[in-house]
Amino acid sequence: MQNIFETLIGSYLNDTVGIADHFLSQPLALALKKNLLALMSEDALSSAGTGNEAKIHHDKTVRSDKIYWLDKSHNDPYENEFFKLIENFINYLNETCYTGIKEYEFHYALYEKGSFYTRHMDRFKNDDSRQFSMITYLNPDWIEGDGGELCIHHNTGELQHISPKNGKGVFFKSNELEHEVLLTHVPRMSITGWLKI
Ligand code: OGA
Ligand code: NI
Repeated sequence: MQNIFETLIGSYLNDTVGIADHFLSQPLALALKKNLLALMSEDALSSAGTGNEAKIHHDKTVRSDKIYWLDKSHNDPYENEFFKLIENFINYLNETCYTGIKEYEFHYALYEKGSFYTRHMDRFKNDDSRQFSMITYLNPDWIEGDGGELCIHHNTGELQHISPKNGKGVFFKSNELEHEVLLTHVPRMSITGWLKI
């Protein structure tokens, strides 16, 4: 596990975007994907907004994904395994990089065919608690041409396209990098969240 954390943090320090191809184990990614599909068939997902509680907007021309927040109160073994992994990562990050992360929040996200999220920054205007963005992907069958890549707009002007491949973890500073989710041609699943102070 430590190796994966080092991969994620090492690539973050080198490239401003951390990537670990196998952040989630295949069984965990599969189980979380099943959870998401079950939530979808129960109609439990809600359309995502932008902004926080105080000022939430639902604008389908900005983002068209549907989300559901993970929560310890669900007592779901796989959500709990995911939280354990995130807590271990936070401890490792705080010990090695003195980041002072105290909290986190994560939601499932489903981008149905034809969905996207236009260029944005993850930190709210009225709340600077989000320090790092973390995304993990749940797409075992993703192939080139399916779309839905995460496109990072580096401050140098360079564009970096990241495929949403199963189990991959992506990690970057929430107030530094603009990014977008390109139009997906197939359902695209993920767990997205933030590490907070
Ligand atoms: C977000 C976001 C990226 C992704 O939810 O804020 O940018 O790859 N997600 O899902
Ligand atoms: Ni984002």
